[in-house]
Amino acid sequence: AQGEREQLFKIHEVALDFFIQQLHQTEEGKSVGISYLRERDLRIDIIEKFQLGYSPIQKNAFTRMALERGYGKELLEKSGLSIFNDRNQGIDRFRERIIFPIHSFSGRVLGFGARLLKNNQKVAKYLNSPESEIYHKSHVLYGLNQSKQAISRADLCLLVEGYMDVISLHQHGVENVVASSGTALSEEQIKLIKRLTENVTILFDSDQAGIKASFRSIDMLLVQGMNVRIVLFPDGHDPDSFARSHSRENLQDYITSNALDFINFKAEVLLKDAANDPIKISDAIKDIVRSVAKVSSPLKQEVYLKEVATRFTLSEQSLFNELAYIKNAER
Ligand code: UTP
Ligand code: MN
Ligand code: MN
Ligand code: MN
Ligand code: MN
Repeated sequence: AQGEREQLFKIHEVALDFFIQQLHQTEEGKSVGISYLRERDLRIDIIEKFQLGYSPIQKNAFTRMALERGYGKELLEKSGLSIFNDRNQGIDRFRERIIFPIHSFSGRVLGFGARLLKNNQKVAKYLNSPESEIYHKSHVLYGLNQSKQAISRADLCLLVEGYMDVISLHQHGVENVVASSGTALSEEQIKLIKRLTENVTILFDSDQAGIKASFRSIDMLLVQGMNVRIVLFPDGHDPDSFARSHSRENLQDYITSNALDFINFKAEVLLKDAANDPIKISDAIKDIVRSVAKVSSPLKQEVYLKEVATRFTLSEQSLFNELAYIKNAER
């Protein structure tokens, strides 16, 4: 119902104010939360721009306040902000964590991500709001509200994995960036980007998971007619750690000059240990042509195939044959 959605928006506003107040106005927030953010080199204006907050150690600080203000148990449960036991005792979902509000395209808070202060193998590093009537994680891109103008202006959207990557790039002057927040990139998320630009550069973490996610995202983006580039960071880096260890100019320059088109990116990754092994090389070519087959525009397909031909010094004809074969097999 409409009323219920409005109530959910309202309780998220109340929670946002609470978490921000806890971070900036309490001893605990200042000594634990602010010092954590300082350790991560975040400036105060950036902390405010992204409306970061802090959820205290106390089990039910938020839930008690919300109940006292007259918000009902049912709403608190639906929002995912509180968890009630069978004796009706409520506790806060987020405790002793840094809070990252997740905004809609138009700037309303839909949910939260929440980070541990100390890495601990036994607990999830980030907790996120559960799905609700207003929050569908596959329909949201973190940072879109703060980045949409810069994305339009640059006619380019940088796509990163995490909350901290978005925030850190903003702090380093790169503002056309959103995060898929660890989930597999979805069709709905791509449609959100497409409102602003058709150009995407993927900046995922430089680890196996990041490369795997890049491969998947490339095909998703190509199917929707997007132009895709990929930046590989030095081993073990993510955009945040890279930005923090380089100057502003170096960061922007690195992104611009290391963006590979998907053909050269895939070739680089797939041929890494191939040496001159003809089996590995032909498997790599097939993999790349399978991505080209996802492209909807015949013109782009032809241009891409010519690029593959050049990259591997093959005849265009044999690549067109392979493409026709793949398309036929998929029919
Ligand atoms: P990463 O593991 O790369 O974390 O996950 P990160 O963003 O670099 O975080 P820091 O620098 O350690 O603080 C990428 C994203 O995946 C989601 C989060 O959105 C995170 O930003 N994620 C990760 C979760 O939702 N839960 C987790 O337990 C871990
Ligand atoms: Mn949904
Ligand atoms: Mn990662
Ligand atoms: Mn990361
Ligand atoms: Mn990180």
